[in-house]
Amino acid sequence: MEIELSEKLKCFKPFLFEELYRREKAERAKGKKIISLAVGDPDIPTHSGIVDCAVHETRNAVNHRYPNTKGNENLRKAAAEWHKKRHGQVFDHNKEISILVGSKEGIAHLPLVVMNEGDYCLIPDPTYPTYRTGVILSGGRMHDVPLEEKNDFLPDLGKIPQKIVDRTKLFFINYPNNPTGAGVTTAFFKELVRWARKNEIIIAQDAAYCELYFGKPTPSIFSAPGARDVAVEFYSASKTYCMAGWRAGWVVGNSRLVCALNQLKENIDSGQFNAVQNAVAYALRNHDKIVPGIRERFRLRAAAFSRGLKECGWRFAEPEGSCFIWAKPPVKTGSLDAVCLMLERISLLAAPGSGFGRYGEGYVRFSLTEPEPVLADAIKRIKALDWNKR
Ligand SMILES: Cc1ncc(COP(=O)(O)O)c(C=O)c1O
Repeated sequence: MEIELSEKLKCFKPFLFEELYRREKAERAKGKKIISLAVGDPDIPTHSGIVDCAVHETRNAVNHRYPNTKGNENLRKAAAEWHKKRHGQVFDHNKEISILVGSKEGIAHLPLVVMNEGDYCLIPDPTYPTYRTGVILSGGRMHDVPLEEKNDFLPDLGKIPQKIVDRTKLFFINYPNNPTGAGVTTAFFKELVRWARKNEIIIAQDAAYCELYFGKPTPSIFSAPGARDVAVEFYSASKTYCMAGWRAGWVVGNSRLVCALNQLKENIDSGQFNAVQNAVAYALRNHDKIVPGIRERFRLRAAAFSRGLKECGWRFAEPEGSCFIWAKPPVKTGSLDAVCLMLERISLLAAPGSGFGRYGEGYVRFSLTEPEPVLADAIKRIKALDWNKR
């Protein structure tokens, strides 16, 4: 019998990168030594203090029982303390903060608690693909909002058609931005929150890369007056503390949204392992010992990689944060063609911008989540590539 799968599943098209991974595998099978800068998976090991804390907590049998879906009190309190110290904002750890099994989990579930069939969600283009997940599951509609270099990769709110705005429930934004590396200012957050309140639209700011900034510290959306009426912010331990495999993040902000998300999650997951949660609490409370070194490494990587790319004629805006460089090759070419050419000729895999949306066409995303010598080797290979010889 051929098992028939659901109509919903058909909406989740195979990731564009699947085809690239197939090609990468074929190249590896030929014995080529591929450098992959296609995914943003930090190579830096988790700080030993966090690991030691997790080992200790794992030995405590109390932690072997079911956790609490919204997160244990220790971590929620640690997150509240972190927000007070980092942003000077006070949040109620019972109602305004909930722990997630990675921020991706919360991002995927949020549309299900606010959207009904036919409601619109605004999705940045280019985008982190998970913003689409919950919208598909909720039967909602999507409207893509261009992020263009000429606007510093910020959305032009005035250009979103009013008839879409009138039917919009939710808007995902993400700064520092994946894939463009763009930063954000409090002035933009103020404008966005004013607009969202006027149009009764919920804002979900994805702050996964908030600590990987290379200039001024990333502001929180809650620096904008009235943001708590309309917004939540998603945080992740993955990049900030190089804990991608541990699967932990949190959502903070509007209590009605945080509690609703938690209510849904109680019916889906049972929270993250308490030993992991306590290790993340340790990370948050030791932020100043752990994070500046990680940030500096990514800043230096971005500076060195940018320098190398520029010398080869690539065109791009310097990243203000994140772990990505979003750049156009020296000759006019499609994203996928550029990436395939680099894979075949210099055994370097990057992500085609077109995989992140229509407005990503023409760009290539390099992820700086490999050790420095590997990144230097990648630049050496890029320098050796003659784009005119095809
Ligand atoms: C923009 C963005 N948001 C969220 C996530 C998910 O992070 P987490 O590991 O916390 O699920 C990622 C992961 O790559 C990301 O790039």
